[in-house]
Amino acid sequence: MSLVIAMDGPSGSGKSSASKGVARALGLRYLDTGAMYRAMTWWMVQNDVPVDDPEAVAARAADPVLEVGTDPSAPTITVDGTDVSEPIRTREVTNAVSAVSAVPAVRARLVVLQREIIGTGGIVVEGRDIGTVVVPDAPVKVYLTASEQVRAQRRAKDLAADPAASVTVTLDEQARRDRLDSTRTTSPLTRAADATEIDSTELGLAEVIEAVVRLAKEQT
Ligand code: C5P
Repeated sequence: MSLVIAMDGPSGSGKSSASKGVARALGLRYLDTGAMYRAMTWWMVQNDVPVDDPEAVAARAADPVLEVGTDPSAPTITVDGTDVSEPIRTREVTNAVSAVSAVPAVRARLVVLQREIIGTGGIVVEGRDIGTVVVPDAPVKVYLTASEQVRAQRRAKDLAADPAASVTVTLDEQARRDRLDSTRTTSPLTRAADATEIDSTELGLAEVIEAVVRLAKEQT
């Protein structure tokens, strides 16, 4: 397998910006698996599927057609031909995504798609279970963290257009999502035993990118 860099970690740890930056620096493709779970969730909401009913979600898990573009400078995602890059970032989807992503039928389908996209490699893949489940033999595995407070501040900044998304609200919603993501039965968020942990609380984006690029050069 050519280079696969698995980037896992909790919400707001800076995975997306770091993963895109690393992919650009090394001339690799980029896959945002969180966007795929969000797209599934968006589709469920659009189609009035009760997201807190795992059986109802599982029954429709095969229906949406997802297409993902892997250019780190312009990643794209469509569902049934509709560009959903923006609607998958709303608070409504963000607060529903953990319930949908805990459904085994959803994960089974998306992991197959993710492995198809990853193919023989040359890609940076970000998510929650990349180093543990999707590509357990990835040559480079990073577990990116940051303090709860800093992660909530970063997310609240991303959500600046939404006046209800204060740091306090974001912190509560983020803690709930992390709890659901790390306690679910199927593929919970956890650091792979062989992943290198990078704590970005005190690091700028350029420093995180530099650390991952250095790691990739050392480990491959
Ligand atoms: O990374 P992002 O915050 O966009 O991920 C959204 C949600 O998708 C996570 O909170 C988690 O529930 C789910 N997810 C997952 N496995 C992945 C990536 C994301 O369960 N590999």
